[in-house]
Amino acid sequence: MTAIPGPISAGLMRRKRAAVPTAVGTTMPVFAARAGGGVVVDVDGNSLIDLGSGIAVTGVGSSAPRVVAAVTAQVADFTHTCFMVTPYEEYVAVAEKLNALTPGGHEKRTALFSSGAEAVENAIKVARAATGRTAVVAFDHAYHGRTSLTMALTAKVKPYKQGFGPFAPEVYRAPTSYPYRDGLTGPQALAGAIDRITTQVDVEDLAAVIIEPIQGRAVSSSPPTVSSRASRSGAESTASCSSPTRCRRGSRGPGRCSRASTRGSSPTSSSRRRASPAGCRSRP
Ligand SMILES: Cc1ncc(COP(=O)(O)O)c(C=O)c1O
Repeated sequence: MTAIPGPISAGLMRRKRAAVPTAVGTTMPVFAARAGGGVVVDVDGNSLIDLGSGIAVTGVGSSAPRVVAAVTAQVADFTHTCFMVTPYEEYVAVAEKLNALTPGGHEKRTALFSSGAEAVENAIKVARAATGRTAVVAFDHAYHGRTSLTMALTAKVKPYKQGFGPFAPEVYRAPTSYPYRDGLTGPQALAGAIDRITTQVDVEDLAAVIIEPIQGRAVSSSPPTVSSRASRSGAESTASCSSPTRCRRGSRGPGRCSRASTRGSSPTSSSRRRASPAGCRSRP
């Protein structure tokens, strides 16, 4: 045991300050040497209970043996071919698995990206190209990432947006329920969202509605059941395509995707609509 942080961590922190922008902050001022089994061992040899956890490993833990074995086998085979240059089976297998896990009996396709923000950006691109429309609705308390478009979709200013504007246009914000504070029922929350959307957005130009069934970054909140299930039919009755949220890595445990898979809402694939753009038109 050493003081926390120990001398080796303190030295590395001096190097970090000199080499890494201050915007990349530090929650715990120790440097990890190993992690696993719910414990982080720091570079000074201290074992700390891993209450923070990397977001990508909250489901299966750090250095889970099956993950280590799969990654090791893969990098031994090849590290990169670029799937669009030389495809490989594993990409197709992941797409098949995600297609099977995503609710709905319709035809599905999956494209893989290297970050959540990139996946969100591409979902919006596909929705816009498929519908020929531009407007996107996101919700209060939403977190969708830190790239230019996803910052615009993200609701919270500090720490995500402050000083980084102007933000991408044609992004509109609708209210959602914050069950710990507002006491709204699902139907009330849904009615408020539909009212805001139809008042402030040209629904004939609405390309996508993007919603996190479980909000876990800007707040930790799960809107009432009906708002995630019925919001899709509400969105469809006003216009457009609903855009599936990304899988929140690890937070649903292995093999689980978003709440879409547990609450019966079926994300609408924009590519499904491409074959029938008229299907995205507003309905009475
Ligand atoms: C709901 C949601 N969308 C998008 C993102 C952005 O993902 P990434 O940090 O991989 O770009 C996150 C990350 O926490 C997220 O929780």
